[in-house]
Amino acid sequence: MHQVDETVETRILKREEIEKVRDIDRSEIIEQDYYLKDGQLALQNVFYDIKGWDPSELEESIKHLYDIYNRNGTLLGTFDGNKMVAISALDSEFIGRKKDQLQLYFHHVDSYYRHCGIGGKLLKEMMERAKKLGAKKLYISATPSKNTIDFYMHMGCRLSSELNPTLYRLEPEDIHLELPLCS
Ligand SMILES: CC(C)(COP(=O)(O)OP(=O)(O)OC[C@H]1O[C@@H](n2cnc3c(N)ncnc32)[C@H](O)[C@@H]1OP(=O)(O)O)[C@@H](O)C(=O)NCCC(=O)NCCS
Repeated sequence: MHQVDETVETRILKREEIEKVRDIDRSEIIEQDYYLKDGQLALQNVFYDIKGWDPSELEESIKHLYDIYNRNGTLLGTFDGNKMVAISALDSEFIGRKKDQLQLYFHHVDSYYRHCGIGGKLLKEMMERAKKLGAKKLYISATPSKNTIDFYMHMGCRLSSELNPTLYRLEPEDIHLELPLCS
């Protein structure tokens, strides 16, 4: 953990800035993952030494970020000077039985900048924006790593009460969460 100075700023991404996601260092060592056991979160030991973005997954994600941009979703980036150090994407299509949820598609902080408040601030900003758009909840299909899920739980998430079939089919190993947006 290190101090983030005031030159670090969060702003709406311009279309041409989407490619800067490549600057974010995705490396992470994951030693515990969550899975669902009888409908409850349970931990298991694992070992993944992630050295960076998986190239094909990154290209897929970038394509999806452009799709979200093109349908007027919200893309936020946090920058330290010219370098993108975090990104978050909110889709614009309402999902769920009541069509009152928006999906937080992408939420990543560069490894050097984690645990110094950036991911939390970015999520709170997205929550405010989603609320203003009329959403009652965020839907998050989250990487099952302990750090990620503990972060989301700390931020007020709970297990989704209404699994989204399309998103579940895409990522059955993910932990599907909802984040209520109080008015
Ligand atoms: C998960 C991630 C986004 C969190 O961002 P971050 O910048 O490290 O988190 P922050 O430092 O802003 O933490 C915000 C709050 O969550 C808490 N928190 C963060 N990680 C936590 C953890 N592992 N366990 C418990 N609380 C945690 C912080 O203490 C802080 O609490 P506070 O506001 O009450 O002080 C970041 O670690 C990351 O990018 N991880 C890898 C990529 C990833 O998994 N992304 C999610 C894809 S679904």
